[in-house]
Amino acid sequence: MSDVLTVHGGTPLRGEVQVRGAKNLVSKAMVASLLGESVSRLRGVPEIADVRIVSGLLELHGVDVSGGPDDGELVLDPTNVERAHVADIDAHAGSSRIPILFCGPLLHRLGEAFIPDLGGCRIGERPINYHMDVLRQFGAEVEKRPEGLRIHAPKRLQGTKIALPFPSVGATEQVLLTAVRAEGLTELRNAATEPEILDLIAVLQKMGAIISVDIDRVVRIEGVDRLEGFNHRAIPDRIEAASWASAAFATRGEIFVEGASQPDMMTFLNVFRKIGGAFEVDDRGIRFWRDADPKRAVVLETDVHPGFMTDWQQPLVVALTQTSGLSIVHETVYENRLGFTRALNDMGATIQLYRECLGGLPCRFGQRNFLHSAVVSGPTKLHGAEIEVPDLRGGFSYLIAALAAEGDSRVHGIELIYRGYERFLDKLDAVGANYERG
Ligand code: EPZ
Repeated sequence: MSDVLTVHGGTPLRGEVQVRGAKNLVSKAMVASLLGESVSRLRGVPEIADVRIVSGLLELHGVDVSGGPDDGELVLDPTNVERAHVADIDAHAGSSRIPILFCGPLLHRLGEAFIPDLGGCRIGERPINYHMDVLRQFGAEVEKRPEGLRIHAPKRLQGTKIALPFPSVGATEQVLLTAVRAEGLTELRNAATEPEILDLIAVLQKMGAIISVDIDRVVRIEGVDRLEGFNHRAIPDRIEAASWASAAFATRGEIFVEGASQPDMMTFLNVFRKIGGAFEVDDRGIRFWRDADPKRAVVLETDVHPGFMTDWQQPLVVALTQTSGLSIVHETVYENRLGFTRALNDMGATIQLYRECLGGLPCRFGQRNFLHSAVVSGPTKLHGAEIEVPDLRGGFSYLIAALAAEGDSRVHGIELIYRGYERFLDKLDAVGANYERG
């Protein structure tokens, strides 16, 4: 049964919340611990479902995981890595896409890996062809079985030259986690260079890896024979920080996000300022509110780093419903990440979706029948509605819309939001949100 939140909208959110380590780094650093011969320590770990899922998968493979989100530190001991039963992996994988990143480390440690059907947010087709191509290039063999994919390494994996068709975050991580212990040099072209990836590279370097990153998206990795554990504090979660910023804007409130880091949020902050958002950066974090000046619409295109993150798009679209004029949003990373706007229209927003690439360069989805551009006309008064959480970021965006709306909304399926927003109900309390469970 899905969890429901009844939100009484119309109250400006005011107060302070804290963001901890980035979900999209923490889960990958946890996987990296499998590559070490000694204990790893990861700090700034948030209390989210993805951390529980990855902990479960690591434990199945013999990693001893202790500590936890209460003190924000995980201790990961990979001394006794072992094979796991296929059915157990399947049961633990949950709705996460992380199991695919276990391949490289498990191939090095055990010579084989098993990947169940992957979950994750339904924001596009999300194929894994880049991952499988990459693993084959290192010399792994991929075998399709009814219960999933079995990948095995007949001999030590070999460094190789790889050029990704698109700078995929996950495929770049796949290469990194595999190349660090492969034999010889790996050169990766068209790599993703998101801050979370650079932080993963920092983790791997601490473990003993040799990795260089050029400004032209070329990453070179010299394989080594042995890696040790790491001691690392995760970079802060810039998606969660931007989500709270959008909530402050949409509800005409003011939220101080402790831990928010300006350098990783530059592109978001520029857009936030353009639409009439205001912010103040200090040593502890960033304060977000909405300027009194007339608000302006924007033309926005999501892109890989250093572009505007696709994960910022959904919360920002809710903020755009409250700006004056026509904003254009071109989603170029996921073909189906604007579907969540239908419910916003049911709440009174005026958002029109288009198949064409609007407002920028043509993208991969241009001629392919995907509604991946939006025109948001604002400001519109939102009213309460019955809504179902579609995916992680869409879910938090619906909460923002419900909090900004007049009247009551019932938001169904809020358990999905725990995948990436830790203690979000406590944080809603801290900023004075008016809601109740059920
Ligand atoms: C990561 O997903 C994040 N997830 C996503 O965050 C994020 O939206 C995305 O990167 C982009 O920044 C995690 O880190 C766990 P991709 P990932 O490979 O690695 C296509 C959130 O809300 N593609 O960069 O799966 C793919 O379909 C989540 O926190 C292929 O075609 O994303 C997409 O169009 C959602 N074949 C594009 O590349 C492949 O084999 C980018 O995906 C792999 C990807």
